[in-house]
Amino acid sequence: MTAPPVIAIDGPAASGKGTVAQGVAAALRLHYLDSGSLYRLVALKASREGVAANDEARLAALAKSLEIAFDKRRIRLQGLDVTEELRGEPVSAAASRIAVLPSVRSALLSRQRSFRRPPGLVADGRDMGTVVFPDAVLKIYVTASAEVRAERRYKQLIEKGNSVTLEGLLLDIRERDARDSARAAAPLKAAADALILDTTDMTIDQSIAFVLERAKAVLKSIRA
Ligand code: C5P
Repeated sequence: MTAPPVIAIDGPAASGKGTVAQGVAAALRLHYLDSGSLYRLVALKASREGVAANDEARLAALAKSLEIAFDKRRIRLQGLDVTEELRGEPVSAAASRIAVLPSVRSALLSRQRSFRRPPGLVADGRDMGTVVFPDAVLKIYVTASAEVRAERRYKQLIEKGNSVTLEGLLLDIRERDARDSARAAAPLKAAADALILDTTDMTIDQSIAFVLERAKAVLKSIRA
């Protein structure tokens, strides 16, 4: 029996990979994994329980025992809706700090792979194509300039009523890029066999269409 197909969509913070991945999953009626939310959930739980960002053993134990529920677009941690809190900048920064720890990454590995169910999965993150699903049938690396990514995040956060500055967000994004790319464990990089999708001058619909066209062709060929 062959494993259900995976479409891996990786890229830096605020590149649009999540929106693209969700759009593709919905259009193809496939399951969807937002792997970043798992790192965010570990960071949030750690801060609530007073676990230090460098206490690798406790963070890994916490990652293994996370009680989470994904319900359409809402995310619950131990029964409580934490969707908005998860997207905030404090959790974003803390998630990228704990994501450098190898034991935390390996604690989350089997959980991420458990999302792979028929008829297939669209997974977004930093290492979907390189580490978690190296056998993905299609790998896309979504990118955009840091300035455009900061502007997109700024609009999103302002619409939700957060008080942030564009300069502050650009700084956060640059720091997060540097941390995600420089770490030894599963650094952010395009898989050798990934297609690069630079969305700097593209709309969301154009980006989704780019991936959909390729995904449909690949899925057709493996189902034939
Ligand atoms: O994708 P998102 O911005 O939600 O991810 C939050 C943080 O989690 C990232 O900055 C990154 O450090 C980490 N992450 C990771 N590997 C993944 C997904 C996210 O290291 N597959």
